Amino acid sequence: MEVVVMPSYEAMSLAAAKLVADILNAKPNAVLGMATGSTPLGVYQELVRMHREEGLDFAQVTTFNLDEYVGLPRQHTQSYHYFMHENFFRHVNVSPGNIYIPSGTTSNYRSFCDWYEQRIKDCGGIDVQILGIGSDGHIAFNEPGSSLSSRTRLKTLAKSTIDDNARFFDRPSDVPIYAITMGVGTILEARQLVLLATGANKSQAVAAMVEGPVTSMTTASALQLHPSAQVFLDESAASELKMREYYDWVKIKKPHAPPV
Ligand code: F6R
Repeated sequence: MEVVVMPSYEAMSLAAAKLVADILNAKPNAVLGMATGSTPLGVYQELVRMHREEGLDFAQVTTFNLDEYVGLPRQHTQSYHYFMHENFFRHVNVSPGNIYIPSGTTSNYRSFCDWYEQRIKDCGGIDVQILGIGSDGHIAFNEPGSSLSSRTRLKTLAKSTIDDNARFFDRPSDVPIYAITMGVGTILEARQLVLLATGANKSQAVAAMVEGPVTSMTTASALQLHPSAQVFLDESAASELKMREYYDWVKIKKPHAPPV
């Protein structure tokens, strides 16, 4: 796992967006794994800027989102369908037929989840998966206790996640209790993982993910098992890390390392 601490949220977002753009430039038909929430908004804004000003091309790209609330129709302003459309898809040239987001309104969740897993495989697997982290250490909606080999499925959200997400809804009682989410096992199959975290409220979860044991109680700690995982942090999200000096040392020395 590579830990990169950047001086600000903006700098962190630009660095992560550049990584995604480099992958896209090398492989124009890359499969991108998308996340929602506040954290990746800066990455999406930068990718949109690169599309408009530098011609970054999404014409051949396929995308798979991590999760969706159960019970929210796609036009609901708090659905992840709506979020992705408003914050990213309507600003770039991803073909609508290449956009996959879990359905929050299917009549058969089991078969939808199986189909979603199969679509990822049929599209060649995810090249790079963007991730945020919950204050309880979750990735996607894999709440504490989720199996580290879990696949796409229906999940009951933790109380802390419902409380965290209440800020987006008119009333706390409007926050959905269930979600459909890629599993930890699904996420680990992506060729590259890019996790972003910002703010002091994520610092404990970040420390548990990076420096704690691999445990289903912090599903983000599964990134330790992945051969190519990068974690981009701002100063406050990195504030509880014990090995901080080493991460900064690596950041300085890495550009001078022999080519691999
Ligand atoms: C959203 C997702 C979640 C969020 C996490 C952090 O698709 O997968 O795991 O990444 O809850 O959310 P924010 O970024 O709003 O703090």
